[in-house]
Amino acid sequence: MTTIAILAGDGIGPEVTVQARRVLEALDLDLTFEEAPVGGAAYFAAGHPLPPETLDVAKRADAILFGAVGDPRCDALERKFRPEQAILGLRAALGLFVNLRPATLYPGLEDASALRPEVAREIDMVILRELNGDVYFGEKGYRTAANGTREGYDVMSYNEAEVRRIAIVGFEMAKRRKNKLCSVDKANVLETSQLWRDVVIELSADYPEVALTHMYVDNAAMQLVRNPGQFDVILTGNLFGDILSDQASMCTGSIGMLPSASLSAWSGANGLYEPIHGSAPDIAGQGKANPCAAILSAAMLLRHSLEQPEAAARIEAAVSAALVAGARTPDLGGTMTTSEMGDAVLAALV
Ligand code: NAD
Ligand code: IPM
Ligand code: MN
Repeated sequence: MTTIAILAGDGIGPEVTVQARRVLEALDLDLTFEEAPVGGAAYFAAGHPLPPETLDVAKRADAILFGAVGDPRCDALERKFRPEQAILGLRAALGLFVNLRPATLYPGLEDASALRPEVAREIDMVILRELNGDVYFGEKGYRTAANGTREGYDVMSYNEAEVRRIAIVGFEMAKRRKNKLCSVDKANVLETSQLWRDVVIELSADYPEVALTHMYVDNAAMQLVRNPGQFDVILTGNLFGDILSDQASMCTGSIGMLPSASLSAWSGANGLYEPIHGSAPDIAGQGKANPCAAILSAAMLLRHSLEQPEAAARIEAAVSAALVAGARTPDLGGTMTTSEMGDAVLAALV
């Protein structure tokens, strides 16, 4: 029996996750679902954003479908109690250092993209984001000196083993795609990035067939809107990958379209699948959220953790067909509710 942990979380997390679950259930794959509280919901119910029982559910499951965490009512809490610590804690506890964020333009969404149609049409990339290191997990502090001056700091660092293991995934992924790898860093300023670049260059000797380029992150942000079609696999660190993937999402039409997979290797158990967006407090509870990113995350779950590539492709084809038929939530310029969009994808499932 295959068990999927459902950690729906806060805000629009539960709204979009239920649509992804409906689509998974429609596939008749003999899946069992186990729900557990996470994020602000778990903090209010159990006093901690990632209760030990929730972590157990996640560890036991064959894969995890995650919604989103974040609640403005928690923004003033001590950091360890904030909802966001739940997703960071899961990534750390499960060793999920590989984050795949594919960005492609779905047919018919040219008009929703922030870019001109002929530019948007070329988008077909994967942002490969390192997920267990960088400034996210370094020493941090917020302190007040004796003279009353406040200071905040977060240490950015990578060691070479951390860079090498994600870079190997990048080269291997490029080999399976268009043989193009663009490593994004800030080596002109940051020592962390210089090490990143040195290690990537050393490793490239093992992959002569892959065309490796390097780009500074500020230029990469510009190139993503100037000519996104130039990118195949973007390899980057935790912070830059976070920022660039939100930007890439808008090039494809909406942040409500982009799924992700967080893995501890190429594939396998305990993979965590989530939309790249957050809990969207501004639209939560209004039926306005686009569930496609969550639904497409369920497709990635089938492909990477359950070895069901045909079922994954069926979901992706259904999303595509629904969009071509004109199904649109407000973020895509339409009027459908979250559940109507789920209905449209289900109706297109063949
Ligand atoms: P956000 O992604 O939640 O929202 C940004 C904007 O995009 C908002 O205007 C929102 O309405 C819109 N949006 C997001 N998802 C959408 C969807 N599916 N359909 C239509 N519109 C959508 O980012 P934010 O506002 O910066 O953060 C809100 C909270 O979410 C914060 O607490 C943040 O920490 C958290 N967050 C969590 C995750 C996660 O759980 N992995 C990811 C990002 C942000
Ligand atoms: C994401 C989010 C998270 C991140 C936050 C909520 C910790 O923005 O998954 O993209 O920064 O990784
Ligand atoms: Mn993010």
